[in-house]
Amino acid sequence: MTAAVKTAKRRRIMAGIRASGKLHVGHWLGALQNFVALAQDNDCFYEIADLHALTTNFGRSKEIAGFVEDIALGFLAAGLDPQRCTIFVQSRVPEISELAVLLGMITPVSWLERVPTYKDQIAALGSEIATYGFLGYPVLQTVDIAAFKGQGVPVGQDQLPHLELCREIVRRFNHLYGDVLVEPEAVLSQTPAVPGLDGRKMSKSYDNSILLADSTAETTAKVKEMYTDPTKIRKSDPGHPETCPVFFFQEIFNPGRAAEIAHRCRTGQLGCVEDKADMAMHLNAALAPLRERRREFESKPGYVEEVLADGTRRARDVARQTLKDVRAAMGL
Ligand code: TRP
Repeated sequence: MTAAVKTAKRRRIMAGIRASGKLHVGHWLGALQNFVALAQDNDCFYEIADLHALTTNFGRSKEIAGFVEDIALGFLAAGLDPQRCTIFVQSRVPEISELAVLLGMITPVSWLERVPTYKDQIAALGSEIATYGFLGYPVLQTVDIAAFKGQGVPVGQDQLPHLELCREIVRRFNHLYGDVLVEPEAVLSQTPAVPGLDGRKMSKSYDNSILLADSTAETTAKVKEMYTDPTKIRKSDPGHPETCPVFFFQEIFNPGRAAEIAHRCRTGQLGCVEDKADMAMHLNAALAPLRERRREFESKPGYVEEVLADGTRRARDVARQTLKDVRAAMGL
């Protein structure tokens, strides 16, 4: 490829992960791998969204700091280099909270009530979470992106309504006060939804996750308990790998043998016990370098805190400027 073709423009990338639980393999495949790739040749801001965690976990607010630490370690273990991207904690950037008040003023309640996650989450978690802050979740997310003038936002399919709303709020602001904020675009992850131990989407709320903090033995034990095709009871029964979560991971972590595994499963030559042991081995091999790096970072006292303090300082410099521009545009 010639140099001229290769000069893709560096873009400002902004993404966040909600600090409402520990990082799991679904985060790694669906988000972190994308974060690491984007950080190679873009200007990336990666946020640990602890205020967003409060929207649903306000009753257990003291757990959040532990999740922040776990996510920071997970970011580093996955290969994010804090010299090449900015890793920071949302609540330590007070400019975000101030911007949220200001953008809240121009956001119609009807726009927020229309967001599918609003009603879905209340149906799932109960009306106790129907707070003012929870309704404003997408305003806060808009601020996260707008504060850093994010142009690209790596997200999964489920976040598209939030991103669309973000664009609408940004357009409204710019229409009212002048061109200050940047309309972002989604950078969709190519990974399909990662299944958890019970076959549903891997998620902290379903308690079906393999955590990045799990040891080799814990991971193997979890894989042993994984849901498989319920019509395959004996090894000789024909299996259906296309709907089996064990096979999902075989395809990712053991791609060279996936076709053969699928064939042996379908024709009753491969049993689930053997398949799981084999998959756990490949998954553990892929996670080994992450565990190694994690141990290394954990053993350096104060290192994670240093990364977060430094990243937060750099993030504040950018957010402070945006806040200044916003206040000036509004005439405050
Ligand atoms: N709402 C996102 C999620 O649940 C997390 C998030 C918070 C985010 N702030 C963000 C994602 C800013 C992208 C950009 O996954």
